[in-house]
Amino acid sequence: MKGSKVLLVVVILATLAALVGCAAPTAAPATSEEAAAPAAPAEQAKKTYKDLVVGYAQLGAESEWRTANTASVQQAAEELGVTLKFSDAQQKQENQIKAIRSFIAQGVDVIGVPPVVTTGWETVFQEAKDAGIPIILVDRRADVPEDLYATYLGSDFVEEGRKAGNEMNKLLPEGGKIVELVGTVGSAPATDRFSGFRETMNPNIEIIDSQSGDFTRAKGKEVMEAFLKKYGAEITALYAHNDDMALGAIQAIEEFGLKPGTDIKIVSIDAVRGAFQAMVDGKLNVTVECNPLLGPQFYDLALKVVNGEEVPKWVPSEESVYYPDNAAEILPTRQY
Ligand code: AHR
Repeated sequence: MKGSKVLLVVVILATLAALVGCAAPTAAPATSEEAAAPAAPAEQAKKTYKDLVVGYAQLGAESEWRTANTASVQQAAEELGVTLKFSDAQQKQENQIKAIRSFIAQGVDVIGVPPVVTTGWETVFQEAKDAGIPIILVDRRADVPEDLYATYLGSDFVEEGRKAGNEMNKLLPEGGKIVELVGTVGSAPATDRFSGFRETMNPNIEIIDSQSGDFTRAKGKEVMEAFLKKYGAEITALYAHNDDMALGAIQAIEEFGLKPGTDIKIVSIDAVRGAFQAMVDGKLNVTVECNPLLGPQFYDLALKVVNGEEVPKWVPSEESVYYPDNAAEILPTRQY
């Protein structure tokens, strides 16, 4: 009897222990960090081109180059299925700033901008940063701290200037007096093409005058007319910071009664179709390429940036130099 009582107590205790074990809460966390750790976040879905809403604050339509750049940005958006909000600032910084603010208000995913001049961007870029919208500099750089933009996609303008200087040396082995048509004052391409050219230009070449033609054909013609009026046939060559100004100057030289490309040698930059035609016609001696077809690369970078992928701070475009010898053969294949 005594033994069976003991057995009963043992069975009851064992049953109770089993019941308590089932109902017991899960083990207490081993550390206080474990207690604070949130549940593992679900992997954030990556955006695709079709999800991407992009604002592009284009600077204007001042040149053949710019028209090609706009076409590339618009066409690539269409092909990839990107939603593009596009604005044209007509070469005015205040319009570009207004466009950027409007893109911020609309909550786009990323903003592309070719800054018309290098300075004056910090406030608006900071506003974009505060709103969590990355800025991508396209074509032209801005003088701002690196944390205010995600990446810069564009040319090495200093190198373009150096190439132009080397070409001028080849055209004027005995030296000469040259005039220069500078791009938009305060813009990255004008500043860099100005300095790059002087890095390589031979000391027997003298720059007798240098004025801005604002990257336009009309202004290039007007300034060249003034140069011709002042220096006449004393001018041996012209260095133009873009093809449009060179094409305007060619008209001025012809109207003055001189032969562009022969009496006045001409080196310019961009390599647009109009420059190839001028080389075919014997009116332009050299054009250094500056590539405007940046649309596909721009969206590739935009998608990476929005998805948090690493991108280089500068993605330089690949560029070449073209001469009259094979201009006729290349002209039909030029896309801009
Ligand atoms: O920023 C690129 C420059 O801008 C091109 O050389 C010129 O043609 C354009 O207007």
